[in-house]
Amino acid sequence: MRNDLISRFASRVADCFRPSWFVLFLTCGCYANHALALDLGPDFDHDETNFPLDYKHALADCESCHVQGIFIGTPRRCVDCHSNSGRIKASAPSSRHIRVVGDCDYCHTSDSWTTVVRVDHSVVIGSCINCHNGVAAEGKNPGHIPSGNFCDDCHTTYSWKFYHVNVVNNCVFCHNGSIATGKNPGHIQSTSTCEDCHRTSSWAPVLRVDHGSVLGTCFSCHNNVIARGKGPLHVPSSNDCSVCHSVTGWVPAF
Ligand code: HEC
Ligand code: HEC
Ligand code: HEC
Ligand code: HEC
Ligand code: HEC
Ligand code: HEC
Ligand code: HEC
Ligand code: HEC
Ligand code: HEC
Repeated sequence: MRNDLISRFASRVADCFRPSWFVLFLTCGCYANHALALDLGPDFDHDETNFPLDYKHALADCESCHVQGIFIGTPRRCVDCHSNSGRIKASAPSSRHIRVVGDCDYCHTSDSWTTVVRVDHSVVIGSCINCHNGVAAEGKNPGHIPSGNFCDDCHTTYSWKFYHVNVVNNCVFCHNGSIATGKNPGHIQSTSTCEDCHRTSSWAPVLRVDHGSVLGTCFSCHNNVIARGKGPLHVPSSNDCSVCHSVTGWVPAF
């Protein structure tokens, strides 16, 4: 079909090119287009052109896109028609539209401007809070944990599920037993600098106990109940372990 059209178009151009005046050629382009339109028979199928007409495009008048009878070279990028500056005047975004860099079809189809299935964040501009302020896009709801406005410290653009994306310290700000899981009652006596001993992936096992953040005497933990204590063959000694041991290893003793 397309080849058909092109050859018809080519023959029109050849027709008017005969006087071989270049100026006339330009006029002819236009004439060829008109003629082409007249030539389109009942079995013309727009879906066989470079631009299938779907949804609302199938309902639009031919002339709204083919202005001045121009067919070949009609723009195909959405933004070339859907802006206030192009030759073709189709619906354009309002001044309140979110700021984007990509073409419209990253987020829209020709079905409707208001049904946006997924906002492709690879083409948005600005920081999260610019849009996620409850006006341009969903913001924090009133029950949200107290937090700053750098949403991406804790969220990705895929879902509002919480991830420890950029969280490296101050765990206790949340892990205090009310905003999020805190220390259980049987927890070893420690400071609240959770990050000294824990990672964000899971609470247990603890790979390294940072003794800078333990509280109490050595024996309060190293009694074979909470943590490793003296073995059965240990030299007779008091329970003041720190006299003979450091926290870096039981062996060697001082
Ligand atoms: C929503 C916009 C739009 C509407 C409405 C539209 N077209 Fe098109 N049409 C295009 C675009 C875009 C192309 C591709 C142009 C290109 O590739 O150079 C095209 C291509 C064509 C071509 C082929 C030109 C070629 O490349 O060979 C013809 C013929 C054509 N349209 C006729 C029509 C007719 C007839 C109607 C009305 C029934 C119509 N069009 C409605 C946008 C539209
Ligand atoms: C060749 C010009 C042209 C191109 C390219 C084009 N459109 Fe359109 N589009 C129109 C025209 C004309 C209409 C009907 C009149 C209007 O809505 O302004 C329309 C209608 C629409 C509508 C319906 C608007 C409404 O209010 O019902 C949507 C949505 C739309 N286009 C999206 C797109 C998307 C997405 C693209 C890119 C994939 C695109 N258009 C490419 C010309 C174009
Ligand atoms: C990153 C995603 C994204 C891109 C890219 C995008 N839009 Fe939108 N657009 C949206 C969202 C989200 C809405 C709001 C939908 C709603 O009302 O629920 C919207 C709404 C609209 C509306 C109706 C409200 C208004 O502000 O006018 C129009 C018209 C529109 N877009 C046109 C466009 C056009 C034209 C382009 C390309 C130049 C484009 N959009 C690119 C996401 C996008
Ligand atoms: C230019 C505006 C804009 C920016 C910037 C932006 N978003 Fe969005 N985002 C939207 C819109 C619009 C939606 C869809 C409508 C809504 O949720 O209100 C959305 C949806 C989301 C969703 C829901 C996704 C889903 O599928 O449920 C998440 C999560 C999200 N954004 C996170 C972020 C994060 C994190 C940032 C910063 C890194 C960010 N967004 C930056 C406009 C933006
Ligand atoms: C310090 C971490 C943190 C920051 C920063 C943060 N959030 Fe959240 N957000 C959370 C946690 C935790 C949840 C609960 C989700 C869960 O349990 O998986 C949540 C849930 C949400 C939810 C879904 C549940 C609800 O409350 O509606 C939305 C929407 C949300 N956040 C938006 C935002 C936005 C917008 C920003 C930036 C302005 C932001 N958040 C900043 C931690 C954070
Ligand atoms: C902004 C709040 C916040 C901060 C800060 C925070 N977390 Fe979380 N964390 C949560 C939430 C919400 C959950 C999920 C609900 C829960 O477990 O209570 C969670 C879950 C966890 C889990 C369980 C993970 C799993 O999948 O079982 C661990 C482990 C964890 N956090 C460790 C940490 C550590 C370590 C830090 C400090 C480096 C930290 N968190 C900082 C809010 C936070
Ligand atoms: C001095 C190191 C240290 C500090 C600091 C510390 N923990 Fe722990 N935590 C541990 C050890 C050791 C365990 C036992 C882990 C095991 O069974 O492997 C533990 C266990 C836990 C568990 C239970 C894990 C399970 O599933 O049995 C939670 C929850 C927990 N800690 C939360 C916290 C929170 C919240 C903080 C900060 C407020 C914190 N911890 C500070 C060392 C520490
Ligand atoms: C609040 C509890 C607690 C206190 C107090 C404590 N520790 Fe620990 N310590 C632990 C835990 C838990 C471990 C890791 C599990 C285990 O070894 O049973 C550990 C591990 C050790 C290790 C093995 C380190 C390694 O890398 O192999 C040594 C050595 C040690 N502690 C010495 C001491 C000494 C010496 C003191 C007193 C100065 C002390 N600890 C105080 C809880 C404590
Ligand atoms: C008077 C000094 C002294 C005191 C006090 C002492 N230890 Fe030891 N401990 C030793 C010596 C010596 C060794 C053997 C080290 C070597 O082979 O280099 C030893 C070895 C150990 C070992 C490794 C071998 C084994 O028996 O399993 C552990 C564990 C240990 N001590 C725990 C403790 C704990 C827990 C305390 C406090 C409740 C403690 N020690 C108090 C002198 C002492």
